[in-house]
Amino acid sequence: MDLIGTSAVVTGAGQGMGRQIARRLMQHGADVLVFELNGDVAARTAQELSAETDGAARAIAHAGSVADTADVDAAFEAATAAFGTPQLLVNNAGVASMSLIVDMPAEDWDLVLDVCAKGPFLCTQAAARRLIAAGLPGAIVNISSINYAAATDGLAHYCAAKAAVSQFTKVAAAELAPSAIRVNAIAPGLTRTPMSEGGFLDGRMGEEFIAHTPMGRFGEPDDIARVAAFLCSEDSGWITGATVPVDGGGHIRGLHNYWATMHEASVA
Ligand SMILES: NC(=O)c1ccc[n+]([C@@H]2O[C@H](COP(=O)([O-])OP(=O)(O)OC[C@H]3O[C@@H](n4cnc5c(N)ncnc54)[C@H](O)[C@@H]3O)[C@@H](O)[C@H]2O)c1
Repeated sequence: MDLIGTSAVVTGAGQGMGRQIARRLMQHGADVLVFELNGDVAARTAQELSAETDGAARAIAHAGSVADTADVDAAFEAATAAFGTPQLLVNNAGVASMSLIVDMPAEDWDLVLDVCAKGPFLCTQAAARRLIAAGLPGAIVNISSINYAAATDGLAHYCAAKAAVSQFTKVAAAELAPSAIRVNAIAPGLTRTPMSEGGFLDGRMGEEFIAHTPMGRFGEPDDIARVAAFLCSEDSGWITGATVPVDGGGHIRGLHNYWATMHEASVA
């Protein structure tokens, strides 16, 4: 896969999946803007990833929120100034929390929908406007979740947001295909990152996930990053509008109601 001469905006790239996605894109030759809420984490990640590639690809940090229109515009301006119009975008930033609907503060709903659904909209809009103005092709990858289809008690906001991401992916793919911009999504299963290590992997929840996953293990960030790099590259040149499950086969037998116990397990 050759991404030499391209540049990418990767959101939430300070840690977890986003960091590994940025690393993979750089290994294939793309320069990357690390668009991250936490400025210190962004700066450290950009510095470390640039050092790893020994000058073959560059990473720069940009602090801001994907849910804020001005921050998104500033990030794309910074990327364009540093590398030229970014042809690749990975909408990876996300947040999650757990509570049943009857207990859920409206602020939690707003935060999850803002970061996980509005963020990909704002960033896709910013990327597509610039690509169309420059007459350049592009590729956009949205990090959805198995929760785009699996209904998990305690995650109503997150499930709604990820369903929105996968539906948004299809409409964006159709609207942007005439401009040679492909849009795809990845639906990861439970993957070992700081987000999931905050309680999702442990105990009964983790055991149930493993038991229902044919390949019998959690995902690692690189499982997701390698697919993201493929979807950014011309190797996937005739794929658009897809949500690709990357979950060790967890979706094969359907995303059952065993997920109902996740909330119970996580708050126990
Ligand atoms: N870890 C899993 O098991 C799993 C499974 C399915 C889907 N996902 C999705 O994968 C993506 C990455 O998750 P992760 O597990 O690496 O999470 P993580 O919490 O480890 O990393 C997320 C990053 O996003 C950043 N971020 C949060 N809000 C932001 C905002 N408003 N603007 C910019 N950056 C922001 C955080 O600072 C953090 O660096 C998310 O979209 C998540 O929903 C994760």
